Amino acid sequence: MKQRIMSGMRPTGKLHLGHYLGVIDNWVKLQDEYECFYQIADWHALTTKYDSTSDLKQNIIDVVSDWLAAGLDPEKSTIYVQSLVPETAELHIYLSMITPQNWVERDPTLKDMAKILKSKEGFGTQVNYGLMGYPVLMTADILLFNADFVPVGIDQVAHVELTRDIARRFNFIYKTDFFKEPQPKLNNCSLICGLDGNKMGKSFHNDIKISDTDEVTAKKVMTAITDRSRIRKDDLGHPDECEVAFKYWKIFGTEEEIAAVREECEKGLRGCAQCKRELGAKINARMADIREKRRYFEAHPEVVDKIIREGSEKARVEAKKTIDKVRNIIGMY
Ligand code: TRP
Ligand code: SF4
Repeated sequence: MKQRIMSGMRPTGKLHLGHYLGVIDNWVKLQDEYECFYQIADWHALTTKYDSTSDLKQNIIDVVSDWLAAGLDPEKSTIYVQSLVPETAELHIYLSMITPQNWVERDPTLKDMAKILKSKEGFGTQVNYGLMGYPVLMTADILLFNADFVPVGIDQVAHVELTRDIARRFNFIYKTDFFKEPQPKLNNCSLICGLDGNKMGKSFHNDIKISDTDEVTAKKVMTAITDRSRIRKDDLGHPDECEVAFKYWKIFGTEEEIAAVREECEKGLRGCAQCKRELGAKINARMADIREKRRYFEAHPEVVDKIIREGSEKARVEAKKTIDKVRNIIGMY
């Protein structure tokens, strides 16, 4: 029996290279060794975006299209939407009964989200009941499949720790060993920075999307921060102080290319504009196959929809087994 992986993402819309290199590429690699469940967390999206749902469906299609283009394979992994597996909500109810209020109150992520919401509704910090339950809902996601490992970014590790606590408490209260205590598996989210040198993110307008065209990518790369001390193209450059462009070379170039860029830059034989033109082409070459698949899914949303619905049905089969077992353990009718 293969060990299980469960992870999820909120449907935030088209994904960027930070998601691709830091998260999805990692998920893709896990597909052969593990039985994987990858979820679109649409209920989690509602915890903060309950009032802007007009793009929710399209965002789900966009995220799954990016996943599929990047190599997630519905034959190998179960790709599903959280709200299409309503067993999640039932497990959430049971877990909410045994989770002490102060366990969720001390969640650090919740505090950050509360700050964002404060500015939104304009009448003080507004934390809705559903948002309080964010980490318990995530616990339900993970325990529903009794996952062994949960690949997450550093910001989500506290939630996996809470999942372990809740699993242990459930087992203790109901005198069972049914739930495993899942382990976090850290993603490398800081692998690639944004074009301005900060963390890559949609809202910072410093990202390159998986689905960007070659032209858009090339244009964006031209805005990447370089060695700020360099003014003319034959000034001697300092690749290690080239804040973004050289870092990208280290991700997308071969050993020889990186060495050549370094040498030419240091000797003043390479202008930054030319350097970034080559870099843009390099990134486009690396993304070419993925983008071709992405365009196919863009043109065939019905194919993506079918994959989502079939994946969700598949997920439900496993989810129902857990729910039957849990109802039985608790002593429900
Ligand atoms: N909360 C996660 C995030 O915002 C997304 C998520 C929802 C998740 N359910 C999950 C991640 C279960 C791992 C496991 O990134
Ligand atoms: Fe950076 Fe290339 Fe300019 Fe050197 S030549 S500073 S590596 S962009």
